[in-house]
Amino acid sequence: MAEVILALDLPTGGDAFRLLDRMLSLRWAKVGSVLMTREGPSFVRALVDRGLNVFLDLKWHDIPNTVAGAVAAARDGGVAMATVHTLGGSAMMQAAAREAGPGLGLVGVTVLTSHDPPGYASATGREAVDLQAEVVRQCGNAMAAGLRGIVCSPLEVAAVRSVVADDAWVVVPGIRRARDASGDQSRTAGPAEAVAAGATHLVVGRPITAAADPAAALLEFQELAR
Ligand code: C5P
Repeated sequence: MAEVILALDLPTGGDAFRLLDRMLSLRWAKVGSVLMTREGPSFVRALVDRGLNVFLDLKWHDIPNTVAGAVAAARDGGVAMATVHTLGGSAMMQAAAREAGPGLGLVGVTVLTSHDPPGYASATGREAVDLQAEVVRQCGNAMAAGLRGIVCSPLEVAAVRSVVADDAWVVVPGIRRARDASGDQSRTAGPAEAVAAGATHLVVGRPITAAADPAAALLEFQELAR
């Protein structure tokens, strides 16, 4: 069984609230940098006050002291899950994990799915990189530093599962039913398939937000993730 997290990739907070008013079965919502930059922490607080678990996806990557400060602000704002880049390094992840406390689960972003092997090799100054091996290597670093889990593509779930603890969170975007358009996602999986591989949280955006009946689409994803 996995939780379904609705990605609130909408232009404004007003659009998000109009959608959320119809989403009675929703437990988790993801706020990314677009909506956070536009609406600010009061928007997150309003979601928390509605009883939602908020996944704040700002992908922090900075010096340890700065990331720890951001984590503390998220924790104090009632955020339930947030992302850090594992390439920020062990000291950064440890500082973040120390600050998070029990109520905030930090999950690591390893290799962005927008990277291809030559682009990643160039960005990191390496010769040739096996991206799956690189994801697994960074998962090991994230677990050793005390993160709660990992964000990964559907195609990486099994490899990630082989290196993380049984109770680690494995958070997976790129989820589509057979009839859904893939949009700009090139690596997708169905909800049941991702859960069978070991996903604990499924991030779903457009298949729900752009559906004719978003509440019914959410219920269907929740049913398929059971
Ligand atoms: O609309 P869709 O279901 O494709 O939305 C997926 C969500 O997951 C978006 O908010 C996107 O930014 C996020 N995401 C992703 N791929 C990653 C990391 C995050 O699609 N590798």
